[in-house]
Amino acid sequence: MPKKDSFNVAIIGAGAIGLDHIQSFKLHPAARVTALAEVSPVRGREAADRFNIPHLVTDYRKLLSRPDIDVVSIALPNYLHAKVALAALRAGKHVMVDKPMATNARDAAKLVAAAKQGKRLLMVGQNIRFTPDVQTAKQLVTAGVLGEVYHAKTAWTRRSGIPRIGSWFTQKRYAGGGCTYDIGVHALDRCLYLLGEFDAAAVSGQTYTQLGNRGQGNGGWGRSEINPRAPFDVDDLSLALIKLKSGRTVLLEASWAAHQPEPDYNGTQLFGTEAGLILPPLKLCRPSKQGYVTELVTPRADLVTPNRMVHFIDCLLGKAKPHVPATESLAVQKILDAIYLSARTGREVRIR
Ligand SMILES: NC(=O)c1ccc[n+]([C@@H]2O[C@H](COP(=O)([O-])OP(=O)(O)OC[C@H]3O[C@@H](n4cnc5c(N)ncnc54)[C@H](O)[C@@H]3O)[C@@H](O)[C@H]2O)c1
Repeated sequence: MPKKDSFNVAIIGAGAIGLDHIQSFKLHPAARVTALAEVSPVRGREAADRFNIPHLVTDYRKLLSRPDIDVVSIALPNYLHAKVALAALRAGKHVMVDKPMATNARDAAKLVAAAKQGKRLLMVGQNIRFTPDVQTAKQLVTAGVLGEVYHAKTAWTRRSGIPRIGSWFTQKRYAGGGCTYDIGVHALDRCLYLLGEFDAAAVSGQTYTQLGNRGQGNGGWGRSEINPRAPFDVDDLSLALIKLKSGRTVLLEASWAAHQPEPDYNGTQLFGTEAGLILPPLKLCRPSKQGYVTELVTPRADLVTPNRMVHFIDCLLGKAKPHVPATESLAVQKILDAIYLSARTGREVRIR
């Protein structure tokens, strides 16, 4: 196949994050957002007009059959991620799919296999990896500043941040799961990325549905319709002890709604033999001649392209190596699934 120097992008879904997908691709001079699929005619028209997108359809399949589309970027409710991504990969498109990769690891594995078979780029939108503090932390870990890192704690916990009760986010049939899939995925991905290890041996998890089902903890995210009669049947708080293959451990916590002092906590802490690290803000904790110190580290902005879509196009141009390999996202999905299984069965789940 001849090497291309520009790419036509189709966005599928023009909800809250779909608009960010459009704006982000537009930052790259080699990307042209030429098509949009959105089932809501009003949201579709609004986005197409605002961003000058020439082709607007309601049925995404019409875009997959078009040979002039190179990249498909998926910003849909979770239950459609794997279905649409697989169809796009099979149609020969490169695929950016927002998190979570799928609603189960079996489907996620099909995506990895299809991308490999068709030699197409598949990446999950783990935007937090691209932040300067995470990149700087990664550099410190890789340089051995922490010594041997043996344990980590990672969390994204909100006091009142359910992405709108009654939207698809709070219904299992559309979301697959609650806060674990929605924000736990970010906290876990960031932590495993910093540890440089993704494969887990065993997971013990618990999930709760305590506030959202009583109409409490509502937040403001998302643009899809709300059905006030829809069941709230997903988790609003979850936690897990994850034992990685190497024997290292991760404690994960996620909540959309919980009685806690901070409105929103989103951080990771690593424990090494020589030092510890916490972010954000990025700090190193270690003994020194002057006593025990906790020092602020200035994040470096030059370490990676801060925008995931710009990076995606750079990868297609051969200017960068994928920063979020799909195999790592599959491993994350396996752990998230194991949390739900462990919560259901009351047992530790072993992952092969
Ligand atoms: N990376 C991040 O930090 C981040 C942040 C927010 C959301 N997300 C993810 O992005 C995805 C979308 O979230 P959102 O907040 O934009 O949701 P949203 O409800 O605001 O938007 C979803 C859009 O998809 C449209 N849609 C539904 N079915 C469709 C179909 N078959 N074809 C075309 N359009 C269809 C809806 O009409 C809606 O406009 C979710 O999976 C979410 O987890 C990621």
